Amino acid sequence: MLGLRIWPLLCFLEYVSAQRALTSLVNLFIGTASGADGGSGGNAFPGAAVPHAMAKVGIDVDMTPRQAGFVSGNASVTGISLMHDEGTGGNTAGGYGNFPLFPLTNCSFASCPVGLKTRETLRAAGADAATPAYFTTTFTNSIKIETTSTRRAGLIRFTFPEETPNFVVVDLTNDLQRSFEGGSIVIEPATGRVLLGGTYLQSYGPSNYTIYGCYDFAPPDLSQNIVQFGTYQSVSTSAPTNITIAPNGTSLAFPYTSLPSGIEAGGLFAFNSSTVLVRFGVSFISSAQACQNAEEEVGEEWGGAWDTVQNASKAKWEDVLNRIAVDIEKENSDVVELLYSSLYRASLVPANLTDENPYWNSSYPFYDALFCSWDTFRTVHPLLSLTSPREWADIVNAYIDGWRHTGYIPECRANTKAGYVQGGSDGMPILGDFAVKYGSLGQELGVPTDDLYQALVDTAENTPSDWYTVGRQNTAWKIFDYIPTNWTDPSGATGLPTREASRTLEYALGDFAVRQAALALGKSQDDVDKYGNRSMGFVNIWDPNVTSDGFSGFAQRRYANGTFAYSPPDACSPVDPTPHSCARGTDNNVGFYESSSWEYSFFAPHSMSTVVNLMGGPDTFVSRLDNYFAKGYFYAGNEPSFELPWLYHYAGRPDLSALHVRDVVYTNFNTGIGGIPGNDDSGAMAALLTFHLLGLYPVPASRQLLIGSPFVSSFNLTNNAFDTVTTFIVENFDATTLTVSPPNGSSIYVSGITINGQSSDSICWISFEDIVGGGEIVITLDNDATAAASRGCGTGANALPDSLESGGFA
Ligand SMILES: *[C@@H]1O[C@H](CO)[C@@H](O)[C@H](O)[C@H]1NC(C)=O
Ligand SMILES: *[C@@H]1O[C@H](CO)[C@@H](O)[C@H](O)[C@H]1NC(C)=O
Ligand SMILES: *[C@@H]1O[C@H](CO)[C@@H](O)[C@H](O)[C@H]1NC(C)=O
Ligand SMILES: *[C@@H]1O[C@H](CO)[C@@H](O)[C@H](O)[C@H]1NC(C)=O
Ligand SMILES: *[C@@H]1O[C@H](CO)[C@@H](O)[C@H](O)[C@H]1NC(C)=O
Ligand SMILES: *[C@@H]1O[C@H](CO)[C@@H](O)[C@H](O)[C@H]1NC(C)=O
Ligand SMILES: *[C@@H]1O[C@H](CO)[C@@H](O)[C@H](O)[C@H]1NC(C)=O
Ligand SMILES: *[C@@H]1O[C@H](CO)[C@@H](O)[C@H](O)[C@H]1NC(C)=O
Ligand SMILES: *[C@@H]1O[C@H](CO)[C@@H](O)[C@H](O)[C@H]1NC(C)=O
Ligand SMILES: *[C@@H]1O[C@H](CO)[C@@H](O)[C@H](O)[C@H]1NC(C)=O
Ligand SMILES: *[C@@H]1O[C@H](CO)[C@@H](O)[C@H](O)[C@H]1NC(C)=O
Ligand SMILES: *[C@@H]1O[C@H](CO)[C@@H](O)[C@H](O)[C@H]1NC(C)=O
Repeated sequence: MLGLRIWPLLCFLEYVSAQRALTSLVNLFIGTASGADGGSGGNAFPGAAVPHAMAKVGIDVDMTPRQAGFVSGNASVTGISLMHDEGTGGNTAGGYGNFPLFPLTNCSFASCPVGLKTRETLRAAGADAATPAYFTTTFTNSIKIETTSTRRAGLIRFTFPEETPNFVVVDLTNDLQRSFEGGSIVIEPATGRVLLGGTYLQSYGPSNYTIYGCYDFAPPDLSQNIVQFGTYQSVSTSAPTNITIAPNGTSLAFPYTSLPSGIEAGGLFAFNSSTVLVRFGVSFISSAQACQNAEEEVGEEWGGAWDTVQNASKAKWEDVLNRIAVDIEKENSDVVELLYSSLYRASLVPANLTDENPYWNSSYPFYDALFCSWDTFRTVHPLLSLTSPREWADIVNAYIDGWRHTGYIPECRANTKAGYVQGGSDGMPILGDFAVKYGSLGQELGVPTDDLYQALVDTAENTPSDWYTVGRQNTAWKIFDYIPTNWTDPSGATGLPTREASRTLEYALGDFAVRQAALALGKSQDDVDKYGNRSMGFVNIWDPNVTSDGFSGFAQRRYANGTFAYSPPDACSPVDPTPHSCARGTDNNVGFYESSSWEYSFFAPHSMSTVVNLMGGPDTFVSRLDNYFAKGYFYAGNEPSFELPWLYHYAGRPDLSALHVRDVVYTNFNTGIGGIPGNDDSGAMAALLTFHLLGLYPVPASRQLLIGSPFVSSFNLTNNAFDTVTTFIVENFDATTLTVSPPNGSSIYVSGITINGQSSDSICWISFEDIVGGGEIVITLDNDATAAASRGCGTGANALPDSLESGGFA
């Protein structure tokens, strides 16, 4: 049954061109506005890439923040480079940006402005254009740049306005952070090949990484003559901008220095043609492997390979995008653009670095850009679980293999190195989610579920000597059932002791994930009970005495002796009247990470009935949510806010969730360059918007999804592990609801759900099995607000979504 992939590629391409090109609906510039001066700054990456690509090729501009290299607007271009992140935070100068090329004309070999500052050039208005698989821009001096790519390789083409000698700079030292710590360039004049390797700093973490590149300038099947070549370098580290060019130079090598020196160095080539085509490959293993990647993925006769490479990349994207099919003629065009643009970005990362692991040999896949699991566990992985289980199984295997070789589930691996832990070890809900959804298919999908479980248990039990970059402070968690503030860990383990309250909430969810995996994988009842009990530890930081806006009871830090340490519940909210430090650092004296107690007090997705009760029952819970939105505590730009508009479900008020999701979407997302309310965060925002638009929200590490009011009248969901297509039909779909406040009397309230003709007891949740089960799911809407407010989640004991404390997730 499995392993039979549906169509051969040719049939697939015919199908695509005959039916629709969903790639044409993807807007790659959403989320590319500048994040400077409080701009929305999605840090989205708009260059060429295949799904889950290692190579992400695009231009870099001279302004910060520019985490993905590109920023819309009119900053100067410093080059086109091979590697980028997607939507991350981290160093504001950017991550990656390796081995940029830069085209020059109207200069002589000895005097070309090869340096970063002297070469940079503006681009012409309206010249940026991109579709999945392809990016182009044109400079104000009329030089055009184009690129297309494969997983680890690709092509770049420069078209010059005049047939004078034209030049291409090959830059060894300038990654986006300008963090070169050593490396080398070798030019092979006879073959037109350039080999590069260098060590640079990671963007969000304490380490450096080494990467290799290979450029080919002499296609065997095309006349493109290198009429001159050479190297260039700064005359000294004290005068890095004084650069000399060495004609006929063939190599430069810089020994490793632990501090970036700021020098510039690279190669320079002159051509007498008006077009220069370049083949590139990248690798984390060696420059020889970078060349081999280019040879294998782009081919030997690469002078004419452009269309083949671009078409193949586009076909991969059509395959991914078609997994959620809507009628693009009939549905609202903004919704369609948002849906496919989001699905695109949510599939750019994690990056497939299989065969590129520099640290250990393994037969398992290797994935990077897990940047960070704190961002992606909520929506990216659950979306992959619906549409892309085969790819997801490989990604999950990479998480497990990280544990196999380091003892812990990786948290924020990026640039191949462990990055900083933000809260819990949030690979745990990812692995738990896989166990509950695909545990029974583990063997077919190649995921050893005993290893998966052991990875969870070890990460739940052991404390690394240094939990800055991996693992959790389990010493504290196991003694106290919360993370105490101002406590010296007798084990000697170190990490940042801040964010005690939000770490408690996240550790609780992590333990729930172990409980879920234990249950799904048939582990002992003792384990199920143990981790289930531990997951309820979040109640230990509930301080009933803290009051804000007339509401009592908030999550707070707590000392080891049990006394609470007060922080104002609105601290670190968007309307915090007092500036606070809300990041990871030792200056965070609030106890919450990038969010407030007002927001985090709602965080126990596995036992929301407990939260409802702690807050005083469903009615108070609803007015508290209302107050949270009305007072501006909702922080759309960060992950802890994701589930909030959906939480009315847990008080039996899915009607209010429907209205709030509309509000959140239309207030915070749009098809413009500022169309993401914060960093895209490795596709986390994109996957969130996808779920909102489909009327679904995933409960972590569980087979439940909250169901709501979709933004389309129907969609088909294809699952490539079960080989199913499930059709969702929205009866009484009303396009007038596609606005920030749907008009009174518009049809937005879910009144019934049938699954293959069977009426569902709940109108608040739906099971994963049904969503990917094939067949037909009908969501019926009505326009009667009064009826909607009183009908709750439906009938029967299981109408409300599950909560552990009230016997759910059995
Ligand atoms: C940037 O500014 C230059 C100079 O004013 C102008 O020629 C160019 O069209 C502008 N480019 C963009 C992308 O706005
Ligand atoms: C090259 O220089 C000539 C003469 O100054 C000028 O007309 C032309 O626009 C320049 N071309 C580019 C691409 O800069
Ligand atoms: C930086 O790279 C060098 C050379 O590869 C290596 O010896 C060193 O351990 C690295 N340092 C860090 C902090 O990653
Ligand atoms: C650049 O370095 C060269 C060689 O050391 C020196 O002759 C020249 O004066 C320097 N130029 C500038 C502008 O500093
Ligand atoms: C570079 O090599 C070419 C070809 O061998 C030669 O004609 C030229 O003089 C050399 N240039 C320099 C600056 O050495
Ligand atoms: C380009 O250079 C090559 C090698 O020097 C030469 O054979 C060819 O004729 C030149 N082509 C043009 C268009 O100048
Ligand atoms: C690439 O796709 C285009 C448009 O569908 C088609 O016309 C062309 O023949 C394809 N080329 C190759 C080499 O596949
Ligand atoms: C969804 O699938 C149904 C049943 O195969 C089909 O009739 C319908 O056209 C599909 N809709 C879309 C948007 O692809
Ligand atoms: C990842 O790379 C491996 C090795 O080339 C390949 O087999 C696999 O299909 C790739 N998966 C994705 C999602 O790109
Ligand atoms: C933290 O603990 C130390 C010693 O245990 C104590 O001296 C200090 O006052 C405490 N700080 C706070 C903020 O409670
Ligand atoms: C709440 O306040 C009351 C009255 O001051 C006090 O008795 C009680 O211990 C407090 N509870 C907590 C958990 O601090
Ligand atoms: C608990 O410890 C905190 C911080 O050291 C202190 O302020 C508080 O008075 C202690 N509470 C009790 C009941 O001893």
